[in-house]
Amino acid sequence: MKKILVTGGVGYIGSHTLVDLIENGYDVISVDNNSRSNPRILEGVEKITGKKVKNYKVDLCNYDDTYAIFQENDDIVGIIHFAAYKAVGESVEQPLMYFENNMVSLINLLKCVKEFEIPYFVFSSSCTVYGNPDVIPVTESTPLKQAESPYGLTKQMGEQIITEFSKANPTQCILLRYFNPVGAHPSILIGELPIGRPANLVPAITQTAIGKLPQMKVFGDDYPTRDGSCLRDYIHVSDIAHAHTLAVQFLIDSKTTKRCEIFNLGSGNGVTVLEAIKSFEKVSGVKLNYAIGPRRAGDVVAIYANNSYAVKQLGWDLKYKLDDMMDTAWKWEVKLKEDEKLYKVQNSELN
Ligand code: WQD
Repeated sequence: MKKILVTGGVGYIGSHTLVDLIENGYDVISVDNNSRSNPRILEGVEKITGKKVKNYKVDLCNYDDTYAIFQENDDIVGIIHFAAYKAVGESVEQPLMYFENNMVSLINLLKCVKEFEIPYFVFSSSCTVYGNPDVIPVTESTPLKQAESPYGLTKQMGEQIITEFSKANPTQCILLRYFNPVGAHPSILIGELPIGRPANLVPAITQTAIGKLPQMKVFGDDYPTRDGSCLRDYIHVSDIAHAHTLAVQFLIDSKTTKRCEIFNLGSGNGVTVLEAIKSFEKVSGVKLNYAIGPRRAGDVVAIYANNSYAVKQLGWDLKYKLDDMMDTAWKWEVKLKEDEKLYKVQNSELN
């Protein structure tokens, strides 16, 4: 079996990708320092797949510890690199923490890729690299604009570093630009575990609906969109996960001569905040307690993907619609309430 190293494997998209890789016949190991993830998630991965995944609790900013993982695993054919901080607001308050964590970890990893001649490298990027696009939907060749946050800058710089690395080394690379990953695995055994008050829309909706938050604010309804609220491309996390498996297979099957491929991972459908709320209310039967609030600084007005390149090149068959995303997100929130002790993340638990 081909072995894939998944950094951030205990995180939201990382854990869903572990499941998809295992179900598609890959051997996997995870590297995750659990600074933003709960180790209990791997129990869910094991329940779904029957496989116990080894996680190296290592900070990728420590080069020696990272190097040691490759010394111990001389059969790694590919790496999928998720591990990074990704809270837009936090990145504005603490830019140096974001530049240090996200860039030093990437560079350490690439030094090991070079040293151990790992053939394939897949990078978790983001639609945030497009900034506020002039034309939507965006394609992979849509010109990038000034990132709206230090977080977005780390993704743009990461892409540039990897692009140059791939020109100077035999490793073939893929940059996967996610739009808005939402929802939970259909088994409802793994899902998103936001730490603290959720910044993102769907966990804010589900936590309000379950009563963890008193009320949700819609950040502005005076935008130039069909209903005044911001427009995004929501994509089920399991569809995103499967695209990673397809991306690795695409490289192994040497389906490209390009040194560094880029793919948009979005559903190709633009959905407004108010439409997302309506979908949630429909599938959950819960009337959401929300109010219209002021715009949020840094918000992009409207963006959604032209995903045809990924669909065609990777053979990416999307399975989930918006209602499925909301349905699984809601069922996961209900499960979290039932298993509160199971996933309760105390600040003291987070090193
Ligand atoms: C979506 C819409 C908000 C919360 C995210 C991640 C970023 C990157 C790209 C991965 C916006 C509105 C939200 C709330 C609201 N992901 N909203 N009330 O901003 O598109 O960026 O995807 O790399 O890390 O942050 O997603 O879910 O924060 O916001 O009205 O309580 O929902 O204004 O229009 P965003 P989001």
